Amino acid sequence: MRPRTILYTGKGGVGKTSVAAATARRCAADGARTVVISTDPAHSLADALQEPVGGEPTKVGKRLWAQQVEAQEELERHWSAVSEWLGGLLMERGVDRIAAEELTIPPGGEELFSLLRIKRAVESGDYDAVIVDCAPTGETLRLLSFPDAARWWLDKVFGREQSMLAAARPLARMLLDVPLPDEKVMAEVHRLVGSLVEMHELLRDASAVSMRLVMTPDRMVVAEAMRTFTYLNLYGYLTDAVVVNRVFPDELSDGYFGAWHEVQQEQLAFVETGFAPVPVLRAPYFAAEVIGPERLDELARAVFGARAPMDVFHDRLAQELRVDNGGAELRLDLPFARKGDVTLKKIGLELVVRVDGHKRTIVLPSGMAGYKPTSAKLDDGSLVVGFEHG
Ligand SMILES: Nc1ncnc2c1ncn2[C@@H]1O[C@H](COP(=O)(O)OP(=O)(O)O)[C@@H](O)[C@H]1O
Ligand SMILES: [Mg+2]
Repeated sequence: MRPRTILYTGKGGVGKTSVAAATARRCAADGARTVVISTDPAHSLADALQEPVGGEPTKVGKRLWAQQVEAQEELERHWSAVSEWLGGLLMERGVDRIAAEELTIPPGGEELFSLLRIKRAVESGDYDAVIVDCAPTGETLRLLSFPDAARWWLDKVFGREQSMLAAARPLARMLLDVPLPDEKVMAEVHRLVGSLVEMHELLRDASAVSMRLVMTPDRMVVAEAMRTFTYLNLYGYLTDAVVVNRVFPDELSDGYFGAWHEVQQEQLAFVETGFAPVPVLRAPYFAAEVIGPERLDELARAVFGARAPMDVFHDRLAQELRVDNGGAELRLDLPFARKGDVTLKKIGLELVVRVDGHKRTIVLPSGMAGYKPTSAKLDDGSLVVGFEHG
């Protein structure tokens, strides 16, 4: 069986590392061999756990390992031949060495390669639970969502031309004095794209893998989390829970923090409707930083209560978007909706849906800017919204 894999993502500072470490400790305590992997270049797993953590899985407790992936090492592992070839090429074109080295790394590449460590951990057979402390906002996960585009690119650049290149190589050297990519470079690119395609497939296995969005109840943070949620759904990644962290306790409802408390309550209500039916877990704003085993376990108790963190809390994509020529169709889970009035309003990229008096705001992907909602129907627990371009 595949290990249970949970990826935590969210804006910087919201508590991803704390919640990931807390989850991992609880999984291990529940009997699962657990590894918690940080792919965020801003590593703080060692601080949270109060244990030294290396670039390889490091034992930090009973049945518990932790790993802070070194982006540079992953880059060298997956990209050194390409990097060397591209760097050489750029330098011959007059780009200086430092700039050339920078340019040979694809944007987001370091984080992307770091994510491949998840695949290794999952496939190793060493763990029952793989908990990932991801880089912010799931942008990187989006990069994984283009295996088809990647394949196409590969075919174009390396496929058909591969034979052509072989023939052209001696000629090119003689006339242009430009080295063309050799087999080593090609092989590396092929291997990498293959791994990324497999990684994408792995992450879409909703029976074992899910994302959890961590946020604080602040307007900007929630807005970004909703955007990420839409993208994750769009690319077929399951979100089985959202975690709202640092919620001011009710004791703070008057006095200096009264206004803050009120704004947070508003945002919490917004989160409940915006992510429904995905369960919303909460943790209070503690009086001190969440550092060390005891505090982490306290955080886990607040977030999960009596739940087992390894359970899949929700097993269905809450939104699905299908785009075809000229039109688009958005399916939303609305399990509580009855045959009732549906009204739709689109403001910029926000779609406000009202069903039987319930309001739901969905942040649409930026590609949907030019689309207008034209129809809406309730269908077996789902609301299906039709869009047209123009
Ligand atoms: N519920 C909480 N109450 C108080 N402090 C918290 C809470 N959650 C996290 N923290 C603290 O906030 C800081 C940032 O948390 P961290 O988990 O590192 O965030 P991220 O990984 O998202 O950047 C850390 O010092 C952490 O101990
Ligand atoms: Mg962190």
